[in-house]
Amino acid sequence: AIANLKGLKQGHLRLSVITTAKYVIPRLLGPFCHRYPGVDVSLIVTNHEQVVERLRDNLDDLYIPSHTPENIDVDQHNFLDNPLVVLAPSSHRLAGRQNIPIQELNGEAFIMREVGSGTRQAIERLFAEHGIEIQVRLELGSSEAIKQAIAGGLGISVMSRHCLALDGDSGQFTILDVEHFPIQRHWQVVYPAGKQLSVVAQAFFDYMIQEGRTVIEDNLDRHAPPHHPPAVDV
Ligand code: PGA
Repeated sequence: AIANLKGLKQGHLRLSVITTAKYVIPRLLGPFCHRYPGVDVSLIVTNHEQVVERLRDNLDDLYIPSHTPENIDVDQHNFLDNPLVVLAPSSHRLAGRQNIPIQELNGEAFIMREVGSGTRQAIERLFAEHGIEIQVRLELGSSEAIKQAIAGGLGISVMSRHCLALDGDSGQFTILDVEHFPIQRHWQVVYPAGKQLSVVAQAFFDYMIQEGRTVIEDNLDRHAPPHHPPAVDV
């Protein structure tokens, strides 16, 4: 489809993506918009529940939810891993320990995303499975604000590793090597099943599938933390 677009002068692309995808989608849009300078983009960044609402209402061209939407028929394609890690201040008592039993998190002061967040849903599911009770000290709708709260000593949290990858502030934080983490998830790009995509949307979809992983990994690899605890699917 990209080949058909040569000579395309203008078009509008509407995307809505979950919060943490805001770290990588603009990196993908850069080369795409250079290739097609007539294309302009609106990018909505919100949580899983809101992305699914928009999908249900058919408001945008393409969507990146936090996991496959339930009860909606979609065409989908996985395009990137989205590991959720335990983030703590580097002064945390568990910092540097290996294979920390998940029970060690019992009673831990925790900063939690808002209701409707896919990250929150994944954390709650894992903790419920293992009978872990955390102490939610603060609820925040932004991973940036959560990082500031962690740095401020309010507690620990769990978030997508993509939230860390592009930062130069890694000295303040540490990823705790807790068993069952990272929670392995996958970003997928979806649209309503059978929907006829616009030429521009189809071109962006193909671009994400064909080149997306490489473009993003080129950006991430330079910043990835050196140690990845063993993976477990949830
Ligand atoms: P959320 O999704 O903003 O709904 O928590 C983020 C993610 O899964 O990366």
